[in-house]
Amino acid sequence: MICSLIIALAAMFCMQHKTGTAEAPFPSETINARKLWEYMTKENPYGRYPAWPGKEGIYESTMPPGDILRLYVNDLALDTIVNKKGMFPNGSLLIKEIYTEEKKVSLLTVMYKAKGFNPKGNDWYWVKYKPDGEVKLEGKGEVCIGCHVGVADNDFVFTGNIRK
Ligand code: HEC
Repeated sequence: MICSLIIALAAMFCMQHKTGTAEAPFPSETINARKLWEYMTKENPYGRYPAWPGKEGIYESTMPPGDILRLYVNDLALDTIVNKKGMFPNGSLLIKEIYTEEKKVSLLTVMYKAKGFNPKGNDWYWVKYKPDGEVKLEGKGEVCIGCHVGVADNDFVFTGNIRK
């Protein structure tokens, strides 16, 4: 009896643990903003993800007008950042919350690495959500890239150097 309980608990732990780790949540052919929202808010809620190392909690953007931000990264992305791998692998997920002055989330901008989706843009899938999940923009993110291209040699990511 106790034995099977322990096994059940161990299995649950393993399953839980797996969700946060080294696998892409879905293949690039099927990526879309609705599915990504379900994944990041229900299946594997991003509130539990680690922060970009050194950017824990809420902080102010380096760019005018100085948005108030919080940046979550999944385990795949974290590994790339910590080990300075130079390029985020398939399934990497970066979620930036933008806050109002009253410290409420007003917008989320998201980058999801979907292998084969857009090789010219390093395969990033770009999304802008309202806090209720309404999709304001999704896909190749021309607008987003327009600015992030400035850091194309850092896999289009501003917050920190991911190269050795
Ligand atoms: C005018 C320039 C600009 C535009 C346009 C822009 N971003 Fe960014 N973005 C930044 C900067 C600068 C940062 C670094 C955080 C900060 O200090 O604001 C950033 C950070 C991010 C991050 C965290 C990862 C990183 O690069 O550090 C995500 C995710 C993100 N942006 C998504 C988007 C999406 C999605 C769009 C399009 C809807 C977009 N961005 C449009 C400038 C821009």
